[in-house]
Amino acid sequence: MYNIAKGMNEKEIDDYVDFVLKNMSLEDKVKQMVGNGINVKVLFDLGFGKRVYDAAGSEKYNIPPLKFTDGPRGVIIPGSTCFPVSMARGASWDVDLEERVGDVIGKEVRAHGGNLFGGVCINNLRHPSWGRAQETYGEDTFLIGELGAALVRGVQKHNVMATAKHFAANSIEKSRFKVNVKMDERTLREVYLPHFRRCVEVGCATVMSAYNKFRGKFCGHNDYLLRKILKDEWNFQGFVHSDWVYGVKDTLGGIIGGLDVEMPRAKYYKFKKIEEALQDGKISVSMIDQAAGRVMRTILRYTTKEDPQIYEPKLIGCDEHRQVALEAAEKCMVLLKNENDVLPLDKKKIVKLGIFGKLARIRNTGDHGSSNVNTKKVITPLKGIREYVGDNIEILYEDGRNVQNVKNTAKEVDAAIVFVGLTYKDEGEYIHELRIGGDRENLSLHKDHIELIKLIAEQNDNCIVVLIGGSAIVMEEWKNQVPAILMAWYSGMEGGKALAKIIFGEVNPSGKLPFTIPIDPKHLPFFKANIDEIEYGYYHGYTLFEKEGYEPAFPFGFGLSYTTFDYSNLQVDVNEGKIIANVDVNNVGTLAGDEIVQLYIGFENSQIERPLKLLKGFSRVSLKPNKKKNIKIEVPTKNLAWFNPKSKSWEVEKIKYTLFMGSSSKNEDLLSIQFNIEN
Ligand code: GLC
Repeated sequence: MYNIAKGMNEKEIDDYVDFVLKNMSLEDKVKQMVGNGINVKVLFDLGFGKRVYDAAGSEKYNIPPLKFTDGPRGVIIPGSTCFPVSMARGASWDVDLEERVGDVIGKEVRAHGGNLFGGVCINNLRHPSWGRAQETYGEDTFLIGELGAALVRGVQKHNVMATAKHFAANSIEKSRFKVNVKMDERTLREVYLPHFRRCVEVGCATVMSAYNKFRGKFCGHNDYLLRKILKDEWNFQGFVHSDWVYGVKDTLGGIIGGLDVEMPRAKYYKFKKIEEALQDGKISVSMIDQAAGRVMRTILRYTTKEDPQIYEPKLIGCDEHRQVALEAAEKCMVLLKNENDVLPLDKKKIVKLGIFGKLARIRNTGDHGSSNVNTKKVITPLKGIREYVGDNIEILYEDGRNVQNVKNTAKEVDAAIVFVGLTYKDEGEYIHELRIGGDRENLSLHKDHIELIKLIAEQNDNCIVVLIGGSAIVMEEWKNQVPAILMAWYSGMEGGKALAKIIFGEVNPSGKLPFTIPIDPKHLPFFKANIDEIEYGYYHGYTLFEKEGYEPAFPFGFGLSYTTFDYSNLQVDVNEGKIIANVDVNNVGTLAGDEIVQLYIGFENSQIERPLKLLKGFSRVSLKPNKKKNIKIEVPTKNLAWFNPKSKSWEVEKIKYTLFMGSSSKNEDLLSIQFNIEN
């Protein structure tokens, strides 16, 4: 037995792995490159996600196995803390919070006996129809990268290997196993890769290759993505594992393409197949050594580190962790409309409160795919409101099926809250074995939900619409008929409690949209759920809307508060490779609240094709009434660069730029000032 010491440094680990590779049998090396998982049928029969899944490892050389579990909403093994979905946390724009979410998840992965976390899902939301929109943080690469990197940092604090997925350009669900995604080099480098690079830069231990093809080659076989860009250019030291079951299509493709581990079990990476390929001279032993070496080095880097604490099972779903889920739910909800200050409701003035819609009383934490957290204790909106008001307010509930009852109740109550939106039946990971999930064909609400809203709005002027979902919902058919709209997302196990606190003003809503909500779906890029090939353009979301001059229903970065924030005194300075921006933010309202200050850079003077502006910084600030703070955000000049496909390098133009700071991406919400980059 070889004693692997706690606290080995990187050189000791590298030397040890070199020793192992010199002495390990070929068969054991190949064992490092496969999951030990069981076949898919048994996987589902036993209940997917009920435990960690093993891969790699060597008893002889004292290399612990990988122990994998998902997912973006929390650890999917039963009993774990169920957070608001990633898209909801995208609306919090709170990097510190996301790191603390990662901290909780890291502890719970370890408490479940795991060491590999598959939950940093950072694909771009190119179109709101994408079935797995809820698993990523939004449409903008900078926002996705900052929050994805925060989750990586939090999880890896507990010696858990994080996975950035799905590398790359996985933004259609139904066709994910077959679709060939094409795009030009600037679109790849400037739009679809920067957030993956950001996670690699903060030390993300592993990357999961996507199912789809990229420029004609499956991502699990794509040497341009996996070897040229990820491992060579970005100097990625970890390993690439495949998406499950269908992530590898043949032995040579995977090995030559640079895929290190086939999950969840050996199919194309069976020893016999690899041995054959070696004998035929189609692959080399050094390719096997590289893959097995990456896996063993990464495992040892994480499993020989001193643990910051003990990970007992009682940590799983504990109250302290639920508090973080509650905070996330409170910070993610986005107030989209609030005419006549209908919200917050005044507990002292409301005698009767109507709650309408089936979604008020069902557990609705998101899709039922690989990110589904199997948690028992979910506070639904109806439960949260009932618990919040106690006996002080009479709650009248109608699920919406009996029109006459809805009409009578809506007329009788002082305010009416109607819960509408989506469930796992409408959007989610497409699991054909279970016939669930897929992309949304229709971006509006269900017809019966729209009718319910209209019916209630006719009877009650204080009609508040609460939307549940994981992506943009088109609201044109009804949004002008109600005074208040709140996007509440799939808000996790504590969502109902957070919602009640926001409705009654104990918490001031602070969420900002992580995507653009269109007036007309025709303004969005082309999207087709079942498609064999597609070209992704350089523009989508707010960059597309600004380029084409489309007016959104609600813009990227938009969200109201119960108070008002005033911006003034914008200043900019450029030195030592940084743009230093300052702005005063003043809470001129009557309630304390959080504001998310956004910083955009304008490229209207660019000599090349570029978006009108791009998000390059943001900062959350808490302010009491009549308090003012100066917010400073620094942007490294290199972050203004564009990728020149001719020189294959990043270049910063020496031009005049515009700096914008304010409360949303809408120009009317932004102060602006110009600055030059000269050298
Ligand atoms: C799924 C998903 C991936 C997940 C993996 C394991 O198909 O695409 O996100 O991590 O399989 O559950």
